[in-house]
Amino acid sequence: MSIYILSIESSCDDTCAAIIKDNKILASVVSSQQVHKFYGGVVPELASRAHQQNIVPVVERALKIAKINKKQLNAVAFTRGPGLLGSLLVGVSFAKAFALGLDIPLIEINHLQAHILAHFIQEQGVSSVTPLFPFLCLIVSGGHTQINIVKDYFDMEITGKTIDDAAGETFDKCAKIMGLPYPGGPVIDNYAKKGNADAFKFSKPNIKGLDFSFSGLKTSFLYFLRDRLKENSNYIQDNKYDLCASIQKTIVLILMDKLKKASLHTGIKEIAIAGGVSANSFLRDSLLKAQKQLGWNVFIPKYEYCTDNAAMIAIAAYYKFMKKDFASQKVTPYARSGEKD
Ligand code: KG4
Ligand code: ZN
Repeated sequence: MSIYILSIESSCDDTCAAIIKDNKILASVVSSQQVHKFYGGVVPELASRAHQQNIVPVVERALKIAKINKKQLNAVAFTRGPGLLGSLLVGVSFAKAFALGLDIPLIEINHLQAHILAHFIQEQGVSSVTPLFPFLCLIVSGGHTQINIVKDYFDMEITGKTIDDAAGETFDKCAKIMGLPYPGGPVIDNYAKKGNADAFKFSKPNIKGLDFSFSGLKTSFLYFLRDRLKENSNYIQDNKYDLCASIQKTIVLILMDKLKKASLHTGIKEIAIAGGVSANSFLRDSLLKAQKQLGWNVFIPKYEYCTDNAAMIAIAAYYKFMKKDFASQKVTPYARSGEKD
């Protein structure tokens, strides 16, 4: 008998719902909140309110696309954390009520594990190759930058992480400094395609081991532009493509240096990336180059499964369902990893 699961993701500013049939995604709906664009970043209170408005239509749409009735569902899954507490509360409360109403189990999912497990998503009629355990997964999102040794679906060890800003946050902050809209990562990626990545040199941090640091780079970018703007108030406009290409190259080189170190250190050549920044074209190209040069076996998610989505929550939930690993109706969200219970 097939298992149908509805999954909800509401950890930040995307309201998402997906339906999975066993390990095959039938529907994945993402409603991206536009309201934050006016503020240059996510405003937590506005995000919670928008989730509240969007969640019912998004779930209805997912059920419609999957062509199933809610009575066919075997479980409801949700992101428990980490994320914005008010945003998470909307998804958690909705999932609890839905599961209670249908008298079916509830499954809690860690957002970061789900980003990694996105590599196991299968689509109807397409058979995708999945990474073999153990593999390394670089999670690069708006809130996190870390390298995980993934030993099994739910057995992951962080071997290096950022000591300050995340890679996505650095893209967004550098874009904001240049007056570009939020989220800045995709805008920088686009502009960079027209620019010279070697036009400007920004220094890389000297952090020992496998940890990352990005706050120094962001500050040096700010000071660099402040000085240039004193001489030419149009400096950013005149150089925006080269600036984007150069800052993007620097961020990606920092990520690639540590990933190469982690592979050498662990002897693992099965390499995956996950999270919003894994949509970055320069990072994707750099990985494919490393695959050729270093004999890596590289796994890059489809674009729609890089940024926040509920398909990744659904696949994680499928593996939990198989273990009968269900949550209680008393479950509450957590804003940071390690903050549970
Ligand atoms: O995983 P995600 O959707 O949400 C979090 O869990 O944070 O990641 C969002 C981040 C944002 O910082 C956004 O600017 C970045 O991913 N991002 C990109 C690209 N697409 C999204 N950064 C660089 N290049 C992109 N193409
Ligand atoms: Zn995310």
